[in-house]
Amino acid sequence: MQPRRLDPRLSSQVCGQCHGIWEFYDRDGERRANSAGLAFRPGDELLQTRFLAQPTVNAGAPAMQALLAADAGFIRDSFWADGMVRVSGREYNGLIESPCFKNAPAGNGERTAVPVFSCHTMHQTADDPRATEEWGTISLRTA
Ligand code: HEC
Repeated sequence: MQPRRLDPRLSSQVCGQCHGIWEFYDRDGERRANSAGLAFRPGDELLQTRFLAQPTVNAGAPAMQALLAADAGFIRDSFWADGMVRVSGREYNGLIESPCFKNAPAGNGERTAVPVFSCHTMHQTADDPRATEEWGTISLRTA
């Protein structure tokens, strides 16, 4: 599914599959991904196939406890004490903790959450006057 046609919550998850702090739920999930490829496809619910570390919400979850058992500093090293993400490149974790995202009304449509595509674009548009090198450094839309 073309990510721009998804509702904002699901389109953000397309980016969150990489720009988030996540782990497979278990070894089976990891094995399946290694042999058959990642199961997530744009439009799917990200949490169906992977555990997204979000200490404000799931610090006590079995998957988080497993991560902490393997690395006691897992939360401390990646999140501030208030649960906000503190490592770069994991913007999805920041997005889902933002008031805009959290307070968005439920349902589909442009106003439900801040869609990543309100700022970012994966392809430079034909009428974008910037040099491709300039556009490519931040991948931001012009309007
Ligand atoms: C398959 C994994 C993957 C997905 C999906 C993905 N990204 Fe990225 N993204 C990366 C990686 C890896 C980098 C770092 C690339 C580098 O440093 O050269 C990156 C870098 C970026 C950057 C930094 C600037 C740039 O252009 O290099 C932005 C902005 C960005 N991604 C936005 C997004 C948005 C918005 C989405 C969703 C539409 C998205 N990404 C989806 C892996 C991904």
